[in-house]
Amino acid sequence: MSSLPVLAWAAALLLAPPAADTGCGAATATAGPAASCFDLLPAAAAPNGVGAVTLDWVTGPFGVSVTRDGRHRYGLTLTISGLPEPASLGPYRTFVAWATTPQLSPIHRLGEVGNGRYRFPPMPVEKLLILISAEASGDVAERTGPLVLRGASPGTLLLPHGVDALPPRAVAHDHDSDRGWVAPPMLDGITMVPGLEALEPSVTPLVHDDVGSLPSARPSTAVHVDDGDTLRLEASRVRWAVNGHAVAAYAYDGRIPGPRLEVAQGARVTVRFVNRIDQPTAVHWHGIRLDNAADGVPGVTQPAVEPGDSFDYQLRFPDDGIYWYHPHHREDVQQDAGLAGNIVVRPPPSDAWGPVDREELLIVDDLLVGADEPVPHGREAATHALMGRIGNVLLVNGVSAPAWRLEVPAGAVVRFAFTNAANARPFNLSLDGTTLKLVASDGGRYEREEWVESVPIAPSERYVVDARFEQPGTVALVNRVRVIDRFRGRFVSRVDTLGLVRVGPESLPSSRAGRAFARLRSRPLALPEPIDTAGARALTLTLRTHGLPFGVVQALRLDTMYVHPVEWESAMPMMDWLGTGREVSWILRDPASRREGHAMGWHFRRGETVRLRVENDPHVLHPMAHPVHLHGQRFLVLAQNGVPSTNRVWKDTVLVPAGGSADLLVEFTNPGRWMLHCHIAEHLETGMHTTVTVE
Ligand code: C2O
Ligand code: CU
Repeated sequence: MSSLPVLAWAAALLLAPPAADTGCGAATATAGPAASCFDLLPAAAAPNGVGAVTLDWVTGPFGVSVTRDGRHRYGLTLTISGLPEPASLGPYRTFVAWATTPQLSPIHRLGEVGNGRYRFPPMPVEKLLILISAEASGDVAERTGPLVLRGASPGTLLLPHGVDALPPRAVAHDHDSDRGWVAPPMLDGITMVPGLEALEPSVTPLVHDDVGSLPSARPSTAVHVDDGDTLRLEASRVRWAVNGHAVAAYAYDGRIPGPRLEVAQGARVTVRFVNRIDQPTAVHWHGIRLDNAADGVPGVTQPAVEPGDSFDYQLRFPDDGIYWYHPHHREDVQQDAGLAGNIVVRPPPSDAWGPVDREELLIVDDLLVGADEPVPHGREAATHALMGRIGNVLLVNGVSAPAWRLEVPAGAVVRFAFTNAANARPFNLSLDGTTLKLVASDGGRYEREEWVESVPIAPSERYVVDARFEQPGTVALVNRVRVIDRFRGRFVSRVDTLGLVRVGPESLPSSRAGRAFARLRSRPLALPEPIDTAGARALTLTLRTHGLPFGVVQALRLDTMYVHPVEWESAMPMMDWLGTGREVSWILRDPASRREGHAMGWHFRRGETVRLRVENDPHVLHPMAHPVHLHGQRFLVLAQNGVPSTNRVWKDTVLVPAGGSADLLVEFTNPGRWMLHCHIAEHLETGMHTTVTVE
């Protein structure tokens, strides 16, 4: 900290308001955008001391800032006043701030403090205690002097609910439901909410008893499509082998994922789609700025394609990037059951994204499987309407974890393009022991390539990273997240190995890609002009529920004691299962007009560039992160949670954490009526959508 702001603050203190005002109320009014704040309370040695700690949002290239093991990072700002001269407390010359856990071990020295404001660099924060003591010098390694202030972060509100003290249940949970429901299994080592055992969702299950007669799904394949080509694409029923179970599924051209379409930027292609599944459907080409009539949204841009019917899509691909296609009708069922495929739009020249030795497109996904069969979807409405359907089997390109494999020679540079096709699960992907070079996202390259330790990716987002495999051996592709075990009041690590990269033993002769890997490239991003501030809009993400089981409501209320920015895993599979579209309405609201969903009636002029602020209301029965997606246009994330972005990229989906916000700059270039919605399939199905019209 430079000396000037300290002096200014000290001078302000002379005229200071009463010390009590230096708590969170004052700190959050004057500090930067904070996720939360907690008070620092005086200890006996300094009864007039007071202060606050804000957990400041951190910016980065992704929607959230997390460590490789999935801990959320925050900057720490300490605001302190009312401390006496340290010498008045004994042989002390200064004060030191310490960060520790509720167990008081380990204790980490933050640094020297006093009356004033101090900012500390980002660190992972879950359950955090801040201690401030008087010390003989600012660089003591251990706390020996008296405590003057202390406080506990909101994560410490997560306390055991005491369910372990309840008598054990006589009957184990077995669902011999005459309606055909298979209940989701609990996560290993996590306690279930008591009182939900006998409940079932209020809808009937969609069950298939002809799995044995269906043809096996085949793996994906690449299909090169040239300008002017016509491609046939058929959706049909298949048998999908998931973790040893035979699952009745859907596939494009018999493949899971569907065929990967490779097209040149600027190409125009016709796709003749044929529906051979047992439900109406359509194909949405996610993220592509194509003609509105080809957007594939039943009820908005076309009627649903009935079983046996077909529909012709005239596609154009104006922007390079990694895109994907999936149904937009009962997405909770159809996309989950296997309908998803990638589209790669390649810019000229072919190595505009930097040279690599090899490229892997990986669709990550999950599926929810009970004791020996999949948990059925709801027939009349989606189950899992609160959190979204989070599966317990993770998948890479349709292969259940940990069976995915890749073989590369030592020294190879591999480009991984990840697409998250899960209904609701965000992943935090990394390659063990490997640093990743972040190159691109939804709609092309970042302004600046940068090194990242993991890739947090929300449903429907895409991220492209390069990795270099130096040494022969095995490298695991892993998903590392932190699970909240609400009933034991703790954060638990969860590591899932999705598959393995086998490296070497033969090594690649030094290649152009190998030489280029160490260099981080950058390119300027042409910002749209002019920015129409008059057209600025705001959007609130919120929730209403009605008629949920009493036990579920009670458990959810207790859970709002502590709001985590992103829920990475379903720790309460029974509870998540029970809420259906009949009890849950997720809502998009325009705070200016107070209108909701399709009544918002948003219109824009073609060519208008608009600031859109998306705010995720944390004061709801189930606060959680939402990946917000806009069709047919592209946007930049100007700020995440109020913190300006430092590395921008064209996006079509942004993850907005619970209690957080995103400031978007949207280019409305493409005329038509377009969907704006949350990409958690169950939220889309239960109301979290609207349309915007570009004239
Ligand atoms: Cu990926 Cu509205 O869609
Ligand atoms: Cu959502």
